[in-house]
Amino acid sequence: LQTTGVNGPLAGLHILLTAGPTREPIDPVRYLSNRSSGRMGFALAAAARRAGAQVTLVHGPVTIPIPAGIEAVAVETAQQMHTAVMSRVSSADVFIATAAVADYRPESPASEKIKKQSEHLQLELARTSDILAEVAALPRRPFVVGFAAETQQVKQHALAKLESKQLDMIAANDVSAGQGFDQEDNALQVFWPGGEHMLPRQSKHQLAEALLQLVAERVKQK
Ligand code: CTP
Ligand code: CA
Repeated sequence: LQTTGVNGPLAGLHILLTAGPTREPIDPVRYLSNRSSGRMGFALAAAARRAGAQVTLVHGPVTIPIPAGIEAVAVETAQQMHTAVMSRVSSADVFIATAAVADYRPESPASEKIKKQSEHLQLELARTSDILAEVAALPRRPFVVGFAAETQQVKQHALAKLESKQLDMIAANDVSAGQGFDQEDNALQVFWPGGEHMLPRQSKHQLAEALLQLVAERVKQK
């Protein structure tokens, strides 16, 4: 992709992304979360902007800077991320879910700090809603891209998610061997119905541009 702004390959498109982890409160001072730096999603947001898109980035708590020229919406919980996405998705042409959304949240967070008492503590967890699957199930939906972080059988799991969530594209990364999380570099296996493309290990910035190139090609064909 070239840094061509209004003439770029994504000019005229509104791209909505999720990035980073979510935090699910256990009590006022503790939470459940996922390992995610937000780097891949932020790199995609910046690259989409450079490619001429209007960009909205709904992100969980991260320590990296917000790219210039985009609309950033900060959230904490999966529920807040869900609400932020659903209220903005109708104007989106492309939705890219890179967030490491918590699959479960403590069912009833304690209103006061939990004091340590017995040797064991049980937490009751409830499923969060699957933002990506809900967006993909909308009657008028954007081009929908999911991510899959897998520790084994990467291709099988990615293809299963592509199919079960009815995605237009999925980018899978192998997080088993110190890859993916909190790293500047990453590699992605990208799948869509009837096609695939391997993006070898490179910086997340280069990877973001390469992935958006694939998205731009596929969006046009849709
Ligand atoms: N995702 C989402 N909302 C959730 C859970 C996941 O939007 N509540 C999105 C992620 O952002 C990612 C994709 O779904 O783009 C796949 O996430 P992943 O955790 O790999 O898959 P799950 O469907 O949650 O299944 P599992 O964790 O069991 O592998
Ligand atoms: Ca999950």
